[in-house]
Amino acid sequence: MKRNQYGMPLMGLGTFDRTGSAGIDAILTALEIGYRHIDTAQTYDTERECGEALRRSGLKREDVFVTTKISTENFGPGMLVPSLRQSLDRLGLDQVDLTLLHWPSPKNKVALSTYVEQIAEAHAAGLTRMIGVSNFTRLLLAEAQSMLGGLRIVNNQFECHPYLQNRILADYCRENGISVTCYLPIARGKLAGDPVLEPLAAEKNCTVEQLALAWSMAKGHAVIPASGKPERLKSNFAAQAVTLSDEDMATIARVDCGRRYIDFDWAPDWD
Ligand SMILES: NC(=O)c1ccc[n+]([C@@H]2O[C@H](COP(=O)([O-])OP(=O)(O)OC[C@H]3O[C@@H](n4cnc5c(N)ncnc54)[C@H](OP(=O)(O)O)[C@@H]3O)[C@@H](O)[C@H]2O)c1
Repeated sequence: MKRNQYGMPLMGLGTFDRTGSAGIDAILTALEIGYRHIDTAQTYDTERECGEALRRSGLKREDVFVTTKISTENFGPGMLVPSLRQSLDRLGLDQVDLTLLHWPSPKNKVALSTYVEQIAEAHAAGLTRMIGVSNFTRLLLAEAQSMLGGLRIVNNQFECHPYLQNRILADYCRENGISVTCYLPIARGKLAGDPVLEPLAAEKNCTVEQLALAWSMAKGHAVIPASGKPERLKSNFAAQAVTLSDEDMATIARVDCGRRYIDFDWAPDWD
């Protein structure tokens, strides 16, 4: 299994919408298939499900990379560290591998320094092995990193798939030693029927979803596709075996059309 420079397996599992017993079953199935990287968040309400699936799997703690994200509702003074302690209780863990600030504070309601300082406190308290961000632009990354001094932002999680390749931001991250996690890596299944991707997938004897996942991983990015269906969990995982030539990568590069599926009026000024 390939990992990035911070030890995060490139193949991960998204857990948005995987609540309740069906969610536990899906996460456990993924762990049985071989997934060793789980992505959750306070707002997904799936931290308990992840914890339960991890316990039922019998896997050792150190064998699974666990990421959670702090809700912007918990950015206010004195709120972030207790909220992460609650996340750990729900997960049944002493420490997560990575904690992300889920979004920049909407409309700057809370000052960046207020929540950046608190995530550093959470790290100093040993609640998280590493820290990172999500949906941060180049400007926000630079500001946050300057506030953190020697403590590195190791990861930025943002929307990235063949229709939204986010090259400016991805290049900035690479140049600054920030690893990338692609969310919506299969564009929620919207790549099906694409006139460029379908023939290439057929030629490579894979699906368009596998092609998209292989494309991100070939760039060294982690991917966190989600599914409640065992056969799709398996097929997404099998994307690790798809190898792409420079020519294939160039073909996929051409389908970028800047189509963003996740956006809000309070989102940052995207790069
Ligand atoms: N940081 C952020 O702000 C942020 C935002 C959004 C998402 N995320 C994270 O990213 C993860 C992935 O995003 P996502 O779940 O929204 O989108 P996604 O992984 O791109 O797509 C998941 C959707 O596609 C379907 N699907 C899965 N595998 C498929 C396949 N092989 N062929 C066709 N359809 C397939 C799933 O349906 P079935 O369940 O029916 O298979 C599900 O509806 C989330 O779970 C979450 O962990 C983070």
